[in-house]
Amino acid sequence: MAKDYDYNIEETLDPEDWDSLRTLGHKMMDDVFDYMSTVRERPVWEHLPETVKKQFCKSIPMEPESADNVYNEFLKNIMPYPSGNIHPRFWGWVIGTGSPMGALSEFLSAAMNSNSGGLDHHSAIHVEKQVIEWFKEIMGFPSTSSGLLTSGCSASNLIGLTTARNKMAAYDLRKEGIHPEKNRMTLYASEEIHSSNQKAIELMGLGSSALRLIPVNEHFQIDLDILQESISRDREEGYSPFCIIGAAGTTNTGAIDDLNALADICKKEDLWFHVDGAFGSWATISPEVKNLVKGIERADSLAFDLHKWMYMPYEVGCILIREEEDHRNSFSLTPSYLVHGTGGQGMTGGDLPWFSDYGFQLSRGFKALKVWMSIKEHGINKYGRLIQQNIDQVRYLEELIKTSPQLELITPATLNIVCFRYIGLDPDYTKLDDLNKKIEVELQESGVAVISVTLIKNQTVLRVANTNHRTRREDFDLLVKEIIKIGNIL
Ligand SMILES: Cc1ncc(COP(=O)(O)O)c(C=O)c1O
Repeated sequence: MAKDYDYNIEETLDPEDWDSLRTLGHKMMDDVFDYMSTVRERPVWEHLPETVKKQFCKSIPMEPESADNVYNEFLKNIMPYPSGNIHPRFWGWVIGTGSPMGALSEFLSAAMNSNSGGLDHHSAIHVEKQVIEWFKEIMGFPSTSSGLLTSGCSASNLIGLTTARNKMAAYDLRKEGIHPEKNRMTLYASEEIHSSNQKAIELMGLGSSALRLIPVNEHFQIDLDILQESISRDREEGYSPFCIIGAAGTTNTGAIDDLNALADICKKEDLWFHVDGAFGSWATISPEVKNLVKGIERADSLAFDLHKWMYMPYEVGCILIREEEDHRNSFSLTPSYLVHGTGGQGMTGGDLPWFSDYGFQLSRGFKALKVWMSIKEHGINKYGRLIQQNIDQVRYLEELIKTSPQLELITPATLNIVCFRYIGLDPDYTKLDDLNKKIEVELQESGVAVISVTLIKNQTVLRVANTNHRTRREDFDLLVKEIIKIGNIL
């Protein structure tokens, strides 16, 4: 078969003309700074038009296009249609804002393209070790504990719970797998716990029924008496309780379980204590509410995010494990082609373990750079102030809700989340679920603000989660005005 290429010509992905790519790169920088600095002037979100969607239904390009063309297509069809979370009036779900320095550091880490899974004596590893040390200190973990940056709290929960399962099983679970006849392992969390924990438990092969969902008290915290009864009943029935998951900031309401009480129960019952602190663990650095997360430092494993309430660009989360050995024993696996820690020189002669010994990924990006640069640029005190600012802003919103007769406060702001609903001046309680869902959608469609809905006590309610460093109080004045306007029209 005739070859349609000349194999004597060697190719590369580098540009033939570095100067023109440099010019394009500078233009990208300028465009990005314009885009970020003017975000407040644009709608929070708008639909991706059908014509634009069709641009992403084409077959794979066989031949090249100029870099300028590709970039122009990005400017036309991609950049104008974001999910909106860099906007000051985005408060849906729990989605962080990102930051300019975070964006720049992503560019730098991609340019270095370091693989942080392993190898020694390269800077990315030491940057990650540095930020893990910072987090241990902030979260009150001992210096002997271990940690890993992850793609987010879903991955962190999976790693934490897998470590718990492997450590607490009464046999070599890594080798033998799940043995329900040997060990019917169960674990406990409030019914408000995030779904990523259930997903983790399903992935771990325990089955979702192993997760006992315990009712909450009037503050949406796990009910400690029912928890204790459930553990005792399971033991009597031959199950093997192995772990309690505490919530430091539930997704629905921001509730924080009594972490010290959970740590006490774990100690008494010989259970692993995992804390899902995706965003709430950052209350630790706020000047006013750090007491709420007391006991977090007693966790055996602590999962949290940096792309939510630390405003870093997606993706980055973290898992800390109190006993380094437990962590390594759960994930380390070293085939001949990856032998490391041999002592001496070279790229495999350094310290044990590698970061790949602490998780399921071998290859890993250089996530640590954005963490390191962001925290150094602003200092952790500023992050503490921003977190407090978000809490204070939500308290301000709570006051606006309380003083608006058309609105009803459903759950007060423990942290940065408040739930409420539009009821109007003459409420028809049979229609409020539908009405509030419609208000959420209309508000999103208007481009003025993005909030989401959830179910609280079987009622559909509007929910604001503020992990936004660009928000100002006046944005909440506008939000309330718009919700009442839309509600009145509907
Ligand atoms: C409490 C809690 N845990 C875990 C997660 C999952 O985190 P991620 O989206 O970073 O995977 C979330 C996400 O919102 C969350 O709110």
